[in-house]
Amino acid sequence: ESAERKNEAKNYNEVMYTLPKVKGLRGNDYYLYQGFWYSSFFLEGLMSVQEHFNPQSTDIFLTSSPKTGTTWLKALAFAILTRSRLSGSTTSSLLTKMPHDCVPFLEYHLAQNPSNRDLAIPLLSTHVPYSCLPKSIISSSCKIIYICRDAKDAFVSLWCFFPRIKCRKMLNLFLWKRPLRCFATEFQSWDHVLGYWRARFEFPEKILFLTYEEMKIDTAAHVKKLAEFMGCSFTFEEEEEGEVQKIISMCSFEKLSNFEVNKNGKHRPVRTHQLLFKIVYTLGKVR
Ligand code: A3P
Repeated sequence: ESAERKNEAKNYNEVMYTLPKVKGLRGNDYYLYQGFWYSSFFLEGLMSVQEHFNPQSTDIFLTSSPKTGTTWLKALAFAILTRSRLSGSTTSSLLTKMPHDCVPFLEYHLAQNPSNRDLAIPLLSTHVPYSCLPKSIISSSCKIIYICRDAKDAFVSLWCFFPRIKCRKMLNLFLWKRPLRCFATEFQSWDHVLGYWRARFEFPEKILFLTYEEMKIDTAAHVKKLAEFMGCSFTFEEEEEGEVQKIISMCSFEKLSNFEVNKNGKHRPVRTHQLLFKIVYTLGKVR
């Protein structure tokens, strides 16, 4: 870590300590910043990209709250956008990289290092609300695709997700006390949805608003809509050759979740407290 980066992190921490805070689902602190709640880790990333990030004019941002279909949207957008270079081959990066690594997170991967991306693939993602996006994105010609989902389903999805990352005990500890308030704080708030919903009317050519439920009902129509919006519509020949169906099939939950990388890979380095938890959990299982 460079001295400059350390200094910057120190400044962000100083700002953070002046902000209102609450305890989140896993007992960690969440800070109120520009109208939304963030964990210290993501807030630091957000402040950093707000200050430094500059998009390419052709970048497309996949935006969402957690548990609303982010991974699926990433896989579909990536497969659609990279299909020409893949045609006839089975070497899609989706076979060997997690969708989250194919489409890096702004406030995580890029905040750590702006070169944590493939410049040839103009896809980035973020959970940051519209009003908090870096000004450089808002004032650019970049396109934005937002996906939202019924908050009840996102909540259940989250509930089921935690045991998978071995946090069942922590989840129980905190959820029984104040589950929905925590959820609204950390993961999905109406203001998050409304921000993108309103912006979409202001900039209809720049923002595409999708719902997980509608995508499930008619995935093919949405894959074509995504392609059109990203400026790479399917040709008549591609449609005739079943390219849309191939992409849907490759990005299906069943297919993706069976790739080795998605079964055993990790898209974030394990942090110390997670590592500790993992050791305790594994020892508990062995005994
Ligand atoms: P459920 O937990 O209700 O099954 P996110 O990617 O934003 O974390 O969202 C997770 C939700 O998206 C999960 O919902 C998961 O099943 C669903 N999902 C992930 N990959 C998917 C895919 N390839 N196709 C359809 N849904 C997918």
